[in-house]
Amino acid sequence: MRAVLRVALVKMLLAAAVATGAAQDDEESLEDYSCNFCHGNDGTLAGVEENKHLIVTHEDLKADVHWQKGLRCHDCHGGNPKLDDYVDHRDDAGFRPLQSLADMPGFCGHCHSDTQYMRRFRPSPRTDQEMEYWTSGHGQRLRQAGEDYKKALEAAKDGEEAPVFEDPKVATCLDCHSPGGKHNMLAVADQKSPVYVTHVAETCAKCHSDAELMADRTYHGKPLGHDQYEEWKQSVHGQAMLEKGDLSAPTCNDCHGNHGAVPPEVDSVANACGTCHNKVATLFAETRMKHRFEEEGLPGCAACHGNHQTQHPSDAMLGMDGEAFCNRCHKDNQFGATLAGATAAVKMRDGLENLKTQIAVAEHTIEEAERLGMEVRGPRFDLRQARDALTNARSVIHTFSPESVQEAIGEGLTATANVTASANAALAEHANRRIWLAATLAPILLVVGLLLLYIRALPIPAVQATSQAEQLPEH
Ligand code: HEC
Ligand code: HEC
Ligand code: HEC
Ligand code: HEC
Ligand code: HEC
Ligand code: HEC
Ligand code: HEC
Ligand code: HEC
Ligand code: HEC
Repeated sequence: MRAVLRVALVKMLLAAAVATGAAQDDEESLEDYSCNFCHGNDGTLAGVEENKHLIVTHEDLKADVHWQKGLRCHDCHGGNPKLDDYVDHRDDAGFRPLQSLADMPGFCGHCHSDTQYMRRFRPSPRTDQEMEYWTSGHGQRLRQAGEDYKKALEAAKDGEEAPVFEDPKVATCLDCHSPGGKHNMLAVADQKSPVYVTHVAETCAKCHSDAELMADRTYHGKPLGHDQYEEWKQSVHGQAMLEKGDLSAPTCNDCHGNHGAVPPEVDSVANACGTCHNKVATLFAETRMKHRFEEEGLPGCAACHGNHQTQHPSDAMLGMDGEAFCNRCHKDNQFGATLAGATAAVKMRDGLENLKTQIAVAEHTIEEAERLGMEVRGPRFDLRQARDALTNARSVIHTFSPESVQEAIGEGLTATANVTASANAALAEHANRRIWLAATLAPILLVVGLLLLYIRALPIPAVQATSQAEQLPEH
């Protein structure tokens, strides 16, 4: 019944449009554009409160990246832009309806998954967004909700109340690409975009810091947290980005991927660290611990460094003392951690401490020599080698092999030994110079002393006294 009325209404409108010459074969003219005819501010749908949400004008799309690229309503929604060919949306096979939010990824993917189409705009476009999205936790939940809704629609009998879509409230394409509004998608490089690199974390936090929204949800069997953003903000990574403006530091999507469960180049979030910390990741990859962590479902690097609260590590984290990472497992055999590992931890830590002591000794010796004015720029420069070796050893601990660490430390110890020897040589030279100085100074002082004695023994000459008196000024 409703459909019949609608068709009649549309036919009437069309007749009116043709009569006023509105339906012309001119797609470029927005005035004559069919969508405007009904959806515009002065369109046939305007003026009715319930239709308010259906009023969409090009004003609303001004900022939208699609509009700016020349795409128009029908490019996204389908339907016919020519008024005289207009068919009711519900009878129009070319119209792409959005029955529920679950249709959105496919709606966007109509173009964004079509490489040939997207090539018209860019030589090598990425066309994996929709496909990747469905692999994410967001996508899986949305797909499930969409399938449930479809089943409910099919099951609903005529005259029954229409089923409601159970919105899982996950992120869909618009949440991340529009700062507000359904027709306001921005280029990712636009500083106002919600996914502009410095805004990503806030965009995710809008939902992920909302305790109520995150309640009663799980991730890998554990309750889903709601403090990722706060932790990230205070981490070495968040600080680097927010305080130092270092855009190479990771924000949420660098570890979690833009659209997928993880970035495409890694096989799990736990391995995302390696995209930037390549050297450490390569060392760690060879270890027994890494394989054991995988078997136990421990998140690799994050098992020690944490995922969101990563801090500047210190030597105190190595070894078997209170706050050391190793203590967490190797003390009481957690996950099958071995005693050999505990011994190794202590050995590696002792090695680092030894090198630090030797560096301190070398530094002290150089300072002493500098204080005495000796030329020790060479040894001071060479000390950098020892410091570099220490830094390197702190990376090499990720082999979790005391031998490799000892080798790295060995280079540092050789350097400190050389530096200390050079600085000591400078000190010895200084001492030698003092003896030599004393030896050469003694005869000179003796001669000067004798001269003074000799001068004091001489009588004051009279001539000099009178000539001085003559020179006195007259009063
Ligand atoms: C003759 C009037 C008319 C014209 C022309 C028209 N529409 Fe509509 N449109 C409607 C009416 C009425 C509704 C609401 C009822 C419905 O969903 O069919 C609507 C609903 C919509 C909706 C929301 C419903 C959904 O399923 O997504 C979209 C999107 C839409 N139109 C897009 C367009 C586009 C794009 C064009 C131009 C190609 C266009 N319309 C042309 C009358 C029109
Ligand atoms: C880049 C693709 C794109 C373009 C271009 C576009 N739309 Fe939309 N439109 C969307 C999306 C996405 C939604 C929101 C779907 C949702 O939230 O369910 C939407 C929603 C709508 C709705 C439904 C609004 C509602 O609240 O129910 C209408 C009507 C509509 N668009 C009409 C238009 C008109 C008219 C134009 C041209 C002036 C246009 N659209 C251009 C993507 C587009
Ligand atoms: C519109 C709200 C919203 C936004 C924005 C959002 N998320 Fe989510 N996200 C959710 C909800 C809700 C869940 C929980 C889904 C469930 O029930 O399992 C979730 C789940 C997740 C999960 C766990 C996935 C899994 O496999 O279960 C990760 C990781 C995640 N989001 C990361 C992000 C990142 C990164 C961003 C920003 C780039 C982001 N989210 C933006 C709502 C959002
Ligand atoms: C949870 C947030 C989130 C969701 C949901 C999301 N995106 Fe993205 N999208 C991003 C991020 C982050 C980027 C990359 C920004 C950058 O490069 O700095 C991006 C980039 C893009 C790009 C630029 C090309 C590229 O791949 O880098 C397109 C196009 C895009 N998304 C489309 C989509 C579509 C279509 C959907 C829905 C299927 C979608 N996005 C869903 C966060 C999201
Ligand atoms: C009619 C085809 C079409 C549809 C449908 C469509 N897009 Fe696009 N989109 C494009 C084109 C074309 C571009 C410009 C690509 C370029 O310049 O490389 C674009 C650009 C974008 C960009 C900017 C990419 C960048 O590199 O900065 C984002 C984000 C985006 N679209 C998201 C979406 C989302 C989200 C949807 C669904 C709501 C959607 N698009 C639907 C065709 C479409
Ligand atoms: C340096 C990498 C990294 C960054 C940056 C990062 N995450 Fe994570 N995230 C991880 C790792 C690793 C896990 C644990 C994965 C596992 O256990 O499988 C995780 C787990 C999660 C989870 C699910 C577990 C939980 O905490 O409840 C959510 C949700 C999440 N991250 C959201 C975010 C958000 C939002 C941001 C940005 C504010 C973010 N992440 C930034 C690496 C990162
Ligand atoms: C997108 C690149 C990127 C990713 C991915 C990344 N990091 Fe970082 N990370 C950095 C940058 C850049 C810094 C330097 C920050 C600073 O100190 O200014 C850093 C610093 C660190 C530090 C401190 C180093 C120090 O000497 O103080 C640790 C520890 C760390 N990251 C661990 C991780 C872990 C664990 C992961 C994965 C869960 C990870 N990172 C993922 C880029 C990344
Ligand atoms: C078993 C615990 C453990 C695991 C697993 C681990 N680390 Fe470390 N990491 C440490 C400890 C302990 C230190 C501190 C070393 C020091 O300062 O003496 C450290 C230091 C670091 C540093 C700073 C030193 C440097 O090399 O610049 C970075 C960066 C780092 N780790 C990244 C990673 C990454 C990336 C992974 C995964 C590939 C990882 N770590 C896995 C324990 C671990
Ligand atoms: C999350 C738990 C956990 C933490 C934290 C941890 N380990 Fe392990 N570690 C293990 C497990 C489990 C094994 C046994 C692997 C196997 O089955 O061979 C292991 C093995 C080792 C091994 C090999 C020893 C052997 O049996 O051959 C070394 C070395 C080692 N760990 C050093 C360390 C150091 C150093 C730290 C601290 C920086 C540390 N581990 C922190 C769980 C851990």
